[in-house]
Amino acid sequence: MGSDAIYDRHHEVFLLWACRETGVFEALFAGRRRPDAVAEHAGITDRAAEIVLEALADAGYTQESDEGYIPTEELRGFDPETPPTARGILPHRVDSLENYIHLPETMRTGSAPEPSEEEFKNYMGAMASVPEGTLRAIVTAAEHVHPRPGQVLDVGGGPGRFGAEFARRGADVTLLDQRSVLELLADHHEELDLDVVEGDARESLPDGFDLVFSARMTVSLSLSGINEYFGNVFEALEPGGTFVAAEWVLGRAEVAERFGMHMLSMSEVGNTYTESEYLSALESAGFADAEIRDVPDTRFQLLVGRKPA
Ligand SMILES: C[S@@+](CC[C@H](N)C(=O)[O-])C[C@H]1O[C@@H](n2cnc3c(N)ncnc32)[C@H](O)[C@@H]1O
Repeated sequence: MGSDAIYDRHHEVFLLWACRETGVFEALFAGRRRPDAVAEHAGITDRAAEIVLEALADAGYTQESDEGYIPTEELRGFDPETPPTARGILPHRVDSLENYIHLPETMRTGSAPEPSEEEFKNYMGAMASVPEGTLRAIVTAAEHVHPRPGQVLDVGGGPGRFGAEFARRGADVTLLDQRSVLELLADHHEELDLDVVEGDARESLPDGFDLVFSARMTVSLSLSGINEYFGNVFEALEPGGTFVAAEWVLGRAEVAERFGMHMLSMSEVGNTYTESEYLSALESAGFADAEIRDVPDTRFQLLVGRKPA
């Protein structure tokens, strides 16, 4: 691996995509183990079944046994029975490939493909798969800015990994997100014991918090949406409260340009933004001492704004 050869750089996601599309995964989850049985179930040629099952095994997605090929845990996210938050990042990676293939059309029309129900579940699976080290580094950095917050609002909290980490450290956490997310993840949020509130951060937020936090949320908004959101955050904070947002800032995060393209492929307004765009939105909202700092050992920056006491 690691060369510039096409089968080194693009192979795996195309393999997963083709196997999902043709029903090879469905055949494996239905207990088909031999290439001929997989071929028959999926409606593909025997030659194709033999080749892709070998390639899946080589990449660790299946294991060869006396019975034939058995899917490994790595493939679990492709089983529709797997709950969204346990799917990992792979199904969303394959959905993103489809969005990338659709990019010429998105670039011409400005309209990205609408996610299907399964794609929405996969998106939440990807959100839930943020590595533990990154999660802890971000929450620790937020607590350096505002030590031991009592009342935390996690805006656009999605699967609640960040909210749950603040709660584990002793905060009362309210997670705010859109209705579709809260409906899909209701049981999961209940298991995490998080208070949830439905809302659109551009319209209004509940108030009475000493820390308002969000992660990977402003990339879903336009610049005017960010200005509305930051104005609402200011109102949601108690005097002396702090706003902290973890983002990839254009010009500082090495991944930001590529992520801008990713947002173009999946949304109509999302993007990545520069330090000066964020600082000016924070200052316009009324925040004092607005700053952007790097989160150690991650690719993220923290946007920080303080509401005067
Ligand atoms: C990329 S996900 C990040 C989820 C979570 N913060 C994390 O980092 O794991 C963005 C989340 O923001 C939510 N979101 C996007 N726009 C929003 C808005 N205008 N108001 C409230 N939530 C929003 C989405 O529904 C989604 O759950």
